[in-house]
Amino acid sequence: MPTNVLVVYYSAYGHTYKMAQAVAEGAKSVADIDVRIRKVPEIPAAQQAMSSQPAYIEAQEAQKDVPEATLDDLRWADGICWGSPTRYGNVTSQMKQFIDTTGPLWNAGELEDKAAGVFTSTATIHGGQETTIITAMIPLLHLGMILVGTPYGQNPQILVTDGIGGSPYGPATLAGPDGTRQPSEPELTTARNLGSRVARVATVLKGMQHIEEHHVPKEEEYGPM
Ligand SMILES: Cc1cc2nc3c(=O)[nH]c(=O)nc-3n(C[C@H](O)[C@H](O)[C@H](O)COP(=O)(O)O)c2cc1C
Repeated sequence: MPTNVLVVYYSAYGHTYKMAQAVAEGAKSVADIDVRIRKVPEIPAAQQAMSSQPAYIEAQEAQKDVPEATLDDLRWADGICWGSPTRYGNVTSQMKQFIDTTGPLWNAGELEDKAAGVFTSTATIHGGQETTIITAMIPLLHLGMILVGTPYGQNPQILVTDGIGGSPYGPATLAGPDGTRQPSEPELTTARNLGSRVARVATVLKGMQHIEEHHVPKEEEYGPM
């Protein structure tokens, strides 16, 4: 049975979409992995606010064939990579709204012990690269997911003092204050590495589900614990 990796994202202007494609590419590089890319539904108020912007129209057109994420996509996945641009240092309302539909999965523990990673896009270097990823991780911990980052050892490209995206918390890109900067090769490399790491960790965790607890230590054997 292959290990299933879902890349679920929101992207208004295409940067997070490009990062999602790189994350998916990284996941596919691991043996015996099935990958799905899904976008979360747009919110009508946000669509209305941005629908006159050429950059938004162009980016939405490029994503028109990406299916919308459902709770069954989350159930299908053994590992999930979540991507959202920043909104004031936090995830978008589109992504949060989708996460807020996962009550039935939370209730049944259906996402517990699945691997998860987070990636983002910000306009500026100090605009929320790290806070967006970390705040996104909080609901994932409530859902019981096991978090995967992009550590320095496997990602020497982030060991820099230049203005590029990416940190041990996860991949990131910089869109620039006017949104014209595109994901750079080191940023896409970090994105690929998150995909392959989530795929590998998800494969191991999937195997772990078959480990049964045969022996529960008793106080009389080991003394008071
Ligand atoms: C309402 C709003 C709030 C934003 N807040 C921030 C912010 O706090 N810091 C920042 O760097 N960029 C901020 N941005 C810029 C977005 O993060 C940027 O457009 C995004 O990273 C581009 O990714 P996308 O092409 O995938 O949509 C904001 C944009 C909007 C529309």
